[in-house]
Amino acid sequence: MSEQIDTALRWAAEQMETCSDSARLDAELLLSHCLEKPRSYLYSWPAEKLSDSCWLSFRALVHRRLEPTPVAYLLGKREFFSMEFATSPAALVPRPETELLVELALNEIPLDQPLRVCDLGTGAGVIAIALKKNRPRLRVYATDVDPACLALARDNALTHGVEIDFIESDWYAGLAPGSTFDLIVSNPPYIAADHPFLTEGDLPAEPAIALSPGNSGLEAIDTIVGESPRYLAPGGVLLIEHGYDQQAAVADLLQARDFVEIRCAFDHNDLPRVSRGRLDEPGR
Ligand SMILES: C[S@@+](CC[C@H](N)C(=O)[O-])C[C@H]1O[C@@H](n2cnc3c(N)ncnc32)[C@H](O)[C@@H]1O
Repeated sequence: MSEQIDTALRWAAEQMETCSDSARLDAELLLSHCLEKPRSYLYSWPAEKLSDSCWLSFRALVHRRLEPTPVAYLLGKREFFSMEFATSPAALVPRPETELLVELALNEIPLDQPLRVCDLGTGAGVIAIALKKNRPRLRVYATDVDPACLALARDNALTHGVEIDFIESDWYAGLAPGSTFDLIVSNPPYIAADHPFLTEGDLPAEPAIALSPGNSGLEAIDTIVGESPRYLAPGGVLLIEHGYDQQAAVADLLQARDFVEIRCAFDHNDLPRVSRGRLDEPGR
């Protein structure tokens, strides 16, 4: 038997309490998706009866959410930096914390300069695309080791009408010899392989390769920072997202490579999240 909007939402929110910190919001997003209406419609017409087919598809989505499957995978989309991106289980669901990395990168890039930027581990392409969209004169390169991520990122770039050079690459290994960049950005995998966090919430549904680089959690950061001087132009900047407890380790790695102006920015939860260093120009 079908339900009306408000009772369907109450039922779904109650079900999803077990798997989500935002059960009511999840319920609203899934129901507005089934109805093909904005969320505001749910508040305007709480007593409207759902059609049988809508109620059935809503129930099916709620059951998938309980697996748990992230809402972004169920909807096939996610907002990031005020833009809508297609999502798929091949790629990490873009996180709000990563918007901080984009903001910091934009601060490094004057509007009118055709600088070269590389986004390592691009996933759905959100960082690279947000940068190109906001700084159209940039030449943007984006790598990922996973071809399925690159296919998704290419689709997203097409949707947003931006040109980006996507390269299948194990970090720097697939870049053209002699490539250098004014800015390298990355949100790499950084959770230690045995961290209990990996078994919590929606994380088991996301690609392991996007979350954990190995036993210490620092393997990818180590490679990205360690090899970056070969790929940065003199005076170039590296911006890298990391775990809240990795600030000191990342600062040590940057110092060991003679980076200067090393700083760490804090996310909206006041946790150290994105570190930055500039490669000193010879003779400065
Ligand atoms: C934490 S996700 C970040 C995705 C996206 N940049 C974002 O911020 O939403 C890390 C990404 O790094 C990619 N990755 C993992 N190992 C890699 C490697 N060895 N070389 C290149 N990319 C890698 C994963 O496929 C994944 O897309």
